[in-house]
Amino acid sequence: IMNPKHIIIDTDPGIDDSLALLLAAASPEIVLDGVIAVHGNVSTEQTTKNALSVLELAGLSQVPVFKGCDLPLVKESLLSPETHGGNGLGYAQLQESATQPKAQHGSDFLIEQIMSYPGEITLVAIGPLTNVALAIRKEPRIVQNVKEVFIMGGAIQHPGNTTALAEYNTYVDPHAAHIVFHSGMPMILTPLDVTYQCIFTKDDLNRLLKIDSPVTKFIADSTRFYMEFHDEYQSIDGCVINDPMTLALTFMPEICDYQDLVVDVDISTGVGLGNTFGDFYNYEKKPKNMKVAMGVRPRMFMELFLERMEKLALKIS
Ligand code: BDR
Ligand code: CA
Repeated sequence: IMNPKHIIIDTDPGIDDSLALLLAAASPEIVLDGVIAVHGNVSTEQTTKNALSVLELAGLSQVPVFKGCDLPLVKESLLSPETHGGNGLGYAQLQESATQPKAQHGSDFLIEQIMSYPGEITLVAIGPLTNVALAIRKEPRIVQNVKEVFIMGGAIQHPGNTTALAEYNTYVDPHAAHIVFHSGMPMILTPLDVTYQCIFTKDDLNRLLKIDSPVTKFIADSTRFYMEFHDEYQSIDGCVINDPMTLALTFMPEICDYQDLVVDVDISTGVGLGNTFGDFYNYEKKPKNMKVAMGVRPRMFMELFLERMEKLALKIS
């Protein structure tokens, strides 16, 4: 591969976040320069631990992990133990990593990397956007110097998964999402509109379990919890793996079809808080602020994901 993309992942692991880290480990198209932990599915203390443990499981202990913000900018904290379990990884019990997080704050690491390698860093943000918003306010020049930002978040024409109107990542820190969406960064959004069309099923899991490896065991133990949640709350058979799909688009963009749109997020205090909406007819005559994945080839993504997990499992057994 000619030019692997340099990637920083900002994440709140989280079951599907962990799967995104595993996909990163199995994808030669990218180089993972660092992982930044944020609050979200569980506390930042715990997402940091989980990031370290999952990276160790994947053979990526050399990737530096940075702790970021533990609270949203304005709202109160909202964790999601019902979706990801009390420790964030469902029924999986990973051993604590021998590696420690770095002392530098995650937002500062992000600023330092983007400003040291202008035009070269791809940011993949798969949790609430608090760290990214903070970095933009602290060093606005990152907006012109980041290569691109892939964001898992929002529900454009799809129901919310946290309120009737709002997706989890944008609902947890809508003010941060507002700062990022209006920043002028080159953004590619992966909303629920496309992720809910890609379901990881029990059949998919059984295919992976043909390989005996700590990787497949982790996927089984974590997604079993996640599947119970999807069944109970949304009558979905299987689970939606939003975050690895977002990462996959960095090197396999053809999985989705995109629309250039004006997208905003509701930060008023009513029922729409955290709602993301696209101005499809451009009533407001504003410049488009992001590319939004609105169509998807589900099997293309699922095959990629399963093949990469098999490859990783064969390596780590
Ligand atoms: C997003 O919310 C989190 O629970 C998942 O990890 C994903 O990033 C989906 O709405
Ligand atoms: Ca996440």
